[in-house]
Formats: sequence, C-alpha cells, structure tokens
Amino acid sequence: MNRIRVAIDGPAGAGKSTVAKMVAKRLGLLYIDTGAMYRAVTWKAIASGIPFSDEEQMVELASTIDISFDSDDDRQIVRVDGADVTQQIRSPEVTEHVSTVSAIPGVRSQLVKLQQKMAGRLGVVMDGRDIGTCVLPDAEVKIFLTASLEERARRRLEELLSKGVRTDLEEVMASLARRDEMDSTRDLAPLRKAEDAYSIDTTGLSVPEVVDRIVSICRQRLGTNQ
Ligand code: DC
Repeated sequence: MNRIRVAIDGPAGAGKSTVAKMVAKRLGLLYIDTGAMYRAVTWKAIASGIPFSDEEQMVELASTIDISFDSDDDRQIVRVDGADVTQQIRSPEVTEHVSTVSAIPGVRSQLVKLQQKMAGRLGVVMDGRDIGTCVLPDAEVKIFLTASLEERARRRLEELLSKGVRTDLEEVMASLARRDEMDSTRDLAPLRKAEDAYSIDTTGLSVPEVVDRIVSICRQRLGTNQ
C-alpha cells in the first residue's frame, strides 16, 4: 500500500484537501496539496511586488521558490523559504489572484516538475486540478471530486467565517464560479476529469463517507483488504 499514488482532482470547495489529508493518514501515505504551491507562488509575488503580468519574473520566482510541507498533529504547515505562510496563502487577496498565476505556462511547468519530484517513488496522495491528467498520469488511483456550486460555497463560507473572514454566501459563490471558469477554460492543463478517474459527487455526503469510499477504491485497486 505504501507505494500507491492517489490523484484527487476537482473544483474549488469540493472538499479535496480535507478528504485527501484523511485518506493519506488512513493509508500511511504522504499528502501533497498542490493548490497550496500555486498559492505560495502567488503570495510571494505579492509580497515581493512582482506584477503577475511579468511572465519572466514570475517564472524566475517559481523556479527559485523553496516550498516545503510540514505537519503538526493534523494541521499541515506550508513554508516558503523557511517561513510559515500557512495562513497568509489562504487570504482573500491570494485566493483572488491564484487562478491568474496558475494559468502562466512557465509557472505551471516549474511547479509540475517540483510536484513530480516530491512524489518521487514514494506513495502519495496529491490533490489539485491536473494531477490525474498531467502530474501523475500513471497514478494507480484517480478520483474526481465534485459537489454542487451551492454546497461548495456553503462549505467554503463556513471555513472562512470560522477564520474570521467577513463575507457572505453570494460573494463566495461568485468567487468560486469565477475560479471554476478560469481553471476549466485555461489553455494549459485545464481542470478536467481524467478518463480513468472515478467520479464522486460529494453533495450530501459526509467527509468520513467520502474517505471510506476512496480508501476502499484504493484497497480494491491493489487487491488488498488490509
Ligand atoms: O485547491 P486550491 O483552491 O487551493 O487551488 C488554488 C488554485 O490553484 C486554483 O484556483 C487552481 C490552481 N491549481 C491548479 O491550477 N493546479 C493544481 N494542481 C492545483 C491548483
């Protein structure tokens, strides 16, 4: 089981990271949140005053940035050049611009290279938008998680309110719809289900139900009941 690669893709707010983290824990695999990597590049560009339209500088940033993951109990810590930026990369400002940054071809190719290196020959659960189609096209298990826009917005709203961000359902729905549109219509590696991915609609399902479903797909795929 510890060599299996599990790719989890889907739109923003489908519950990918919560579920992916728990699947990784259940199966003893490393968890890699690729959305956090695009967010880290976006955060650093803002912090360094690099305009997103300056492709050369953006690609230079993506090829030199030092992104690492660490875990503290159940919390995943994201570091950029050694500093903990876990909270900063979830700010509304970063969220607003991350789709623009992730559409820059040179940024994507640098991060995809880094993601493939991180996955190496170890077992991983990796979540994002293009994991099953581009980053790990030969992953043993591919999952495409979806949920209705309203349900995704409700979940995201709860998460934001609990972090003290002031917003409402309409605003969150509009922001998710905008990101869905940008992520699925960009030229390079748009969000789409890999042909051999299992689709799971999480609308109305609890997190443990989704996790159980994915864990059992992994076990079936490997022919094990451990
Ligand atoms: O999963 P998230 O909301 O943290 O992702 C942030 C953005 O990064 C999302 O709008 C699309 C982009 N992304 C991507 O293009 N490819 C990935 N593998 C992961 C995220």
